[in-house]
Amino acid sequence: MERHCVFIATFLLILHLVQAQDSTGFINVGCGLPPHESPYNALPTGLSYTSDIGLVNTGKTGRIAKEFEPNYTKPLTTLRYFPDGVRNCYTLNVTRDTKYLIMAKFVYGNYDGLKTDPNFDLYFGPNIWTTVSKNDTREEIIHVTKSNSLQVCLVKTGTSIPFINILELRPLRTTAYVTQSGSLKYLFRVYLSNSRLGIRYPDDIYDRAWFPYFDEKSWTQVTTNLTVNITNNYELPQGVAATGATPLNDAETLNITWDVEPPTAKFYTYLHFAELQTLRANDTREFNTTMNGKYSYGPYTPTPLKIETVLDVKPEECDEGACLLQLVRTSKSTLPPLLNAIEAFTEINFPQMETDGDDVYGIKNVQDSYGLDRISWQGDPCVPIQFLWDGLNCDNSDNSTPPIITSLNLSSSGLIGTITQAIQNLTHLEKLDLSNNNLTGEIPEFLADIKSLLVIDLSGNNITGSVPPSVLQKKGMKLNVDNNPHLLCTGGSCVNIGENKPKKNSIIVPVAASIAALAVLIGAFIMFLVLRKKKASKLEDGRSSQQAIMTKNRRFTYSEVMTMTNNFQRVLGKGGFGIVYHGVVNGTEQVAVKILSHSSSQGYKQFKAEVELLLRVHHKNLVGLVGYCDENDKLALIYEYMANGDLKEHMSGTRNRFLLNWGTRLKIVIDSAQGLEYLHNGCTPPMVHRDVKTTNILLNEHFEAKLADFGLSRSFPTEGGTHVSTVVAGTPGYLDPEYYRTNWLTEKSDVYSFGIVLLEIITNRHVIDQSREKAHIAEWVGLMLIKGDIISIMDPSLNGDYDSGSVWKAVELAMSCLNPSSTRRPTMTQVVIGLKECLASENSRGGASRDMDSKSSIEVSMTFDTDVNPTAR
Ligand SMILES: *[C@@H]1O[C@H](CO)[C@@H](O)[C@H](O)[C@H]1NC(C)=O
Ligand SMILES: *[C@@H]1O[C@H](CO)[C@@H](O)[C@H](O)[C@H]1NC(C)=O
Ligand SMILES: *[C@@H]1O[C@H](CO)[C@@H](O)[C@H](O)[C@H]1NC(C)=O
Ligand SMILES: *[C@@H]1O[C@H](CO)[C@@H](O)[C@H](O)[C@H]1NC(C)=O
Ligand SMILES: *[C@@H]1O[C@H](CO)[C@@H](O)[C@H](O)[C@H]1NC(C)=O
Ligand SMILES: *[C@@H]1O[C@H](CO)[C@@H](O)[C@H](O)[C@H]1NC(C)=O
Ligand SMILES: *[C@@H]1O[C@H](CO)[C@@H](O)[C@H](O)[C@H]1NC(C)=O
Ligand SMILES: *[C@@H]1O[C@H](CO)[C@@H](O)[C@H](O)[C@H]1NC(C)=O
Ligand SMILES: *[C@@H]1O[C@H](CO)[C@@H](O)[C@H](O)[C@H]1NC(C)=O
Ligand SMILES: *[C@@H]1O[C@H](CO)[C@@H](O)[C@H](O)[C@H]1NC(C)=O
Repeated sequence: MERHCVFIATFLLILHLVQAQDSTGFINVGCGLPPHESPYNALPTGLSYTSDIGLVNTGKTGRIAKEFEPNYTKPLTTLRYFPDGVRNCYTLNVTRDTKYLIMAKFVYGNYDGLKTDPNFDLYFGPNIWTTVSKNDTREEIIHVTKSNSLQVCLVKTGTSIPFINILELRPLRTTAYVTQSGSLKYLFRVYLSNSRLGIRYPDDIYDRAWFPYFDEKSWTQVTTNLTVNITNNYELPQGVAATGATPLNDAETLNITWDVEPPTAKFYTYLHFAELQTLRANDTREFNTTMNGKYSYGPYTPTPLKIETVLDVKPEECDEGACLLQLVRTSKSTLPPLLNAIEAFTEINFPQMETDGDDVYGIKNVQDSYGLDRISWQGDPCVPIQFLWDGLNCDNSDNSTPPIITSLNLSSSGLIGTITQAIQNLTHLEKLDLSNNNLTGEIPEFLADIKSLLVIDLSGNNITGSVPPSVLQKKGMKLNVDNNPHLLCTGGSCVNIGENKPKKNSIIVPVAASIAALAVLIGAFIMFLVLRKKKASKLEDGRSSQQAIMTKNRRFTYSEVMTMTNNFQRVLGKGGFGIVYHGVVNGTEQVAVKILSHSSSQGYKQFKAEVELLLRVHHKNLVGLVGYCDENDKLALIYEYMANGDLKEHMSGTRNRFLLNWGTRLKIVIDSAQGLEYLHNGCTPPMVHRDVKTTNILLNEHFEAKLADFGLSRSFPTEGGTHVSTVVAGTPGYLDPEYYRTNWLTEKSDVYSFGIVLLEIITNRHVIDQSREKAHIAEWVGLMLIKGDIISIMDPSLNGDYDSGSVWKAVELAMSCLNPSSTRRPTMTQVVIGLKECLASENSRGGASRDMDSKSSIEVSMTFDTDVNPTAR
């Protein structure tokens, strides 16, 4: 706990005084100040406050109640409150790399007539600053800006409506108030005087507020009429510098006490000293400073009529948060210690980096050019994750670099005009979805210049011109331009670009929502398949001939459906959306025929759109759609037959007594994961399954797994699903809590559900079981992991017949899929890789160590007990 005495010599005195006197760089915002009263010259400072219009786009203006008005000066009497949205933000223009004193004031004054104390959070950019819970609150921090804009956000945490009266920023010298790390949060700032006067601007050129503090019983006041040289980094007001206190009793110490409340236990003090008395030749004033009895600095002698500041170069801490600062006279000293003023701050860290400045600039420009006023589109676009802007996805995985925007989805947002140039500043985009808007004009070339941008959906607009060759030829590009009737085609079918050979001026074939057009589509699609197959994996080999036969006639009449099912003789099961019957086509080919219960369909048109989409999706781990029937509102989907039913039947052992061993289980989940990965990454536009669960994982005669029922949950409510809102669909227990909370669906919701599937194959237990210590499987496994009881997690019927490393890794992977924060979940690609490693380790059993306890730790992220977030083992 060393202190440094700072002797400052500077010749910038005059310059600084001039600058400060016209208060250069001060920002004074009167929140809720009516424009006709702005700017307002406030008393007693004479500073001019301007209305907050243009700094915040939301909120309503209010005034404190009449009876409080006499107690507050003008800009404090108006306020802005935020009844709508969770986070509302002010954005201020500031100078980058500048040290600012930032103050926010909150005077409740019963503005709403409800007489309830406030309770909401104040954020500084993406980081929490403090909780406002008193009806008259003043918050202050000292912080160095990292960009040219600064955001102060008010966040609703309960029913209390956030409000704010004043925001003030004052630039300080960068050499003042230096800390080792982080920023400073105000604790107190006093000058030792028995006057009752507070001191502010213009006496304090930085507009710090100094409060008088005096211990009448123990101290005596010392003042001077002479000018004190205040030239150092801190430039105290003369009124503060020219007063001080010494103990009444010459032998006593000078004591100052305060409390520091957790969690911010670390603090910094700034002690300001100047000798104010004229000492005789044989007089000495010398003392040490101690903190809670421990030596911290000295011996020190104040300089006559010259301010020096003694500060902590490292944060200090007090036992139990009760601090006692003492000035202890040394034996050599003939005079008692003297102190003029003291400031104290706690350390505050803002660990969350703000989103990449260029990305913020870009997305704001996008917002401006389309006039988007979504309630969530304020504050930092990416962080904190719970306030992620609706329609964005960000990469926030690396804590040491700023978050970046990786995906922008403005589908069905009523956009008009052209594809905005502003997008080119989003240089980290990987996915762009502008589908189903009213966009006109041409596809801009710059889309090809955004390096990582490989998935673009422009379908359902009015785009004209042709696809620029640079976009067309970009390696790996997936571009969907369906339903742009006036787009000229430079490629083959133009349905999905990337595989096509240039051909001039052919009109694009729109994927029209009519069955007539389906024939065209299917024709085009077969070609597409053939093209694909040449390049693509072996995986689809062996299925191609079957596919070709099937695709010739995909539409069946109802009487054909009756024939193929032998009049609905054999029920295979009751799946999502309807009953499934066994059927036979082409004499030998077995199929599963799903008769859609009509009531569950949200519209015929939607059905056709879905079928179109599904006919385009092919993967060895997805249950293939063979055909469909849509005759006289009789809707049926004809799928390939899966001889071994669904995974759940096998897990619960009801189907037969054949037990799936660990290796087989892994193969099944790898298959399923690959199917899901294809939906997420191989489809244009990407598809979210929305209802991943063990009953939707079907097994063929070789126990190869395929995912069923993908793509349907958009138009059909899920059977047994919840209907909390019209948007949220899924099966209880499997439903991503973040999606449930935010209504914001991404591929990561499937990853969550897949994590539950993984836990099921590991534990062979019900997803929800009220008789368990913890009803939900994720909660229960989390609890077992905390207890370190890994063996009890495992399905006992496996009899320990597995590689423990393989199992351990699978548990770890499952838990990562279940991370409450979707961005922290792995992608399906990562899950596939992880599961393959599990399988490799299981297959190489024997050689590897089986010592489970020596494995690395699992971070258990609990979705339910938010207060528990421990690390197991
Ligand atoms: C105040 O002190 C500074 C250095 O500490 C010195 O340069 C300056 O001349 C002093 N000002 C006056 C008015 O004495
Ligand atoms: C205003 O301040 C005075 C003096 O501090 C106090 O007595 C009074 O209760 C205050 N009025 C209100 C409405 O708070
Ligand atoms: C902030 O700065 C930007 C760009 O420098 C400018 O366009 C904008 O008008 C400024 N906003 C305010 C409120 O001064
Ligand atoms: C503000 O808080 C003080 C102390 O809790 C209380 O006495 C006062 O009535 C409150 N004022 C309002 C308007 O709630
Ligand atoms: C300062 O000046 C005032 C008025 O001139 C006088 O009363 C007071 O005694 C002086 N104080 C000191 C410390 O010289
Ligand atoms: C200062 O604190 C010390 C230790 O707590 C105590 O003994 C002493 O009486 C205090 N002095 C005054 C003037 O309060
Ligand atoms: C200091 O000097 C003064 C006279 O200049 C004298 O009265 C006083 O006793 C001396 N004090 C000490 C402690 O020697
Ligand atoms: C003051 O600090 C010095 C240097 O550490 C030490 O030698 C001296 O004993 C201290 N004096 C008192 C009264 O604490
Ligand atoms: C935005 O993009 C344009 C064109 O690429 C570029 O000139 C400009 O510097 C970018 N602006 C920012 C702030 O990145
Ligand atoms: C799209 O724009 C056209 C032309 O401005 C207009 O006629 C049409 O109504 C718009 N459609 C939608 C859905 O906004």
